[in-house]
Amino acid sequence: MTQPDQYFPMKKTYILLLFSAATALLLAFSTTEPKDATELGQRLFADPILSLDSTISCQSCHLPEFAFADTARFSLGVGGRLGKRNAPSVMNMAARSHFFFDGRVLALEDQVLMPIQDSLEMRMTLPEVERRLRRHPVYAPVFQKLFGRPANVEDMATAIAEFVRTLETAATPYDRWMNDQPNGMSDAAARGRDIFIGKGRCFDCHFGADMTGDEFRNVGLFNGKDLNDVGRYAITKKPEDLGKFKVAGLRNVALTAPYMHNGQFKTLDEVIDFYNDPSRVVPDAINRDTTFAKPMNLTQWEKADLKAFLEAMTDDRFAKNDK
Ligand code: HEC
Ligand code: HEC
Repeated sequence: MTQPDQYFPMKKTYILLLFSAATALLLAFSTTEPKDATELGQRLFADPILSLDSTISCQSCHLPEFAFADTARFSLGVGGRLGKRNAPSVMNMAARSHFFFDGRVLALEDQVLMPIQDSLEMRMTLPEVERRLRRHPVYAPVFQKLFGRPANVEDMATAIAEFVRTLETAATPYDRWMNDQPNGMSDAAARGRDIFIGKGRCFDCHFGADMTGDEFRNVGLFNGKDLNDVGRYAITKKPEDLGKFKVAGLRNVALTAPYMHNGQFKTLDEVIDFYNDPSRVVPDAINRDTTFAKPMNLTQWEKADLKAFLEAMTDDRFAKNDK
């Protein structure tokens, strides 16, 4: 897996520029016209015209080959502006009840409009998006055909959301193991699952088909000083929500480094070491969940098994990427 290259923001800007120019050209000359809302959404997801200077697409931060997450700690938006949170995977969104780390949005259709207007991301206005779509040689007639009216922001949001909902993953060693099918997970991963449920207590928060109960919890990454993202509290203003973040789903987690809302851990090993004893990493955390009252005392073998289990949740389509 490539290392996050947040230390070379300029290098990344150039690569992004080149990449978006290439995508724009490819999209402009591509003759196949999207057949349905999902295909239209896929095209828009990859198209930088949704950003102010036509350099950034959704895909610039949600990279398809990394399970639609970013490899940089903080993503770069229009003009190289640095974001404030790590861009998570947007796979397995269909069953989510809340979006963003603080859960500030409840519907995918509303979610997709946020990055377009975010001043650190795509920096666009919705009227300008509509104007561009309406005069676009490919999109204008496709919107008319698919939705029976001129291109508009609402139908665009529907199309992008439809596409995002198709990004579900269920073909993993873990799923096959659960269903008693061949080519399931290794013995190490199976032992890791026991730790995940038992000694590691991961399952208290990471459960269900996508390994998240869609709750907000505090793992101890808020101290009001250097770690000052208040998370869910910004939305609810309830003191008990200080430092709570949406529990991350764990499908394809082997591909979505760096980890956590602030991308502070570079590898799964670092994440596991953190959970083993959160107070060693952040001694002055505020409001940390009582699940972590005592260190887990995982042995190095147990840590390795736990990691093998997390890796067993990687979808087959990424198998070659996953080391
Ligand atoms: C400049 C980088 C950037 C761009 C461009 C971008 N995103 Fe994101 N995306 C992020 C970050 C960062 C977050 C997390 C923000 C937060 O939680 O506050 C995020 C979160 C999301 C989420 C919520 C995931 C979850 O688990 O709740 C979805 C869905 C999403 N983006 C879809 C899109 C779509 C669709 C587009 C294009 C219209 C897009 N993003 C463009 C960086 C980006
Ligand atoms: C008390 C609830 C809770 C427990 C217990 C818990 N987690 Fe988490 N987990 C979370 C929350 C909340 C996040 C998101 C935190 C953030 O972004 O700052 C998260 C994030 C993660 C991530 C990062 C995902 C990403 O893409 O950034 C991994 C990996 C993870 N947890 C694995 C585990 C493992 C392994 C265990 C058991 C050793 C565990 N978790 C125990 C609540 C929990």
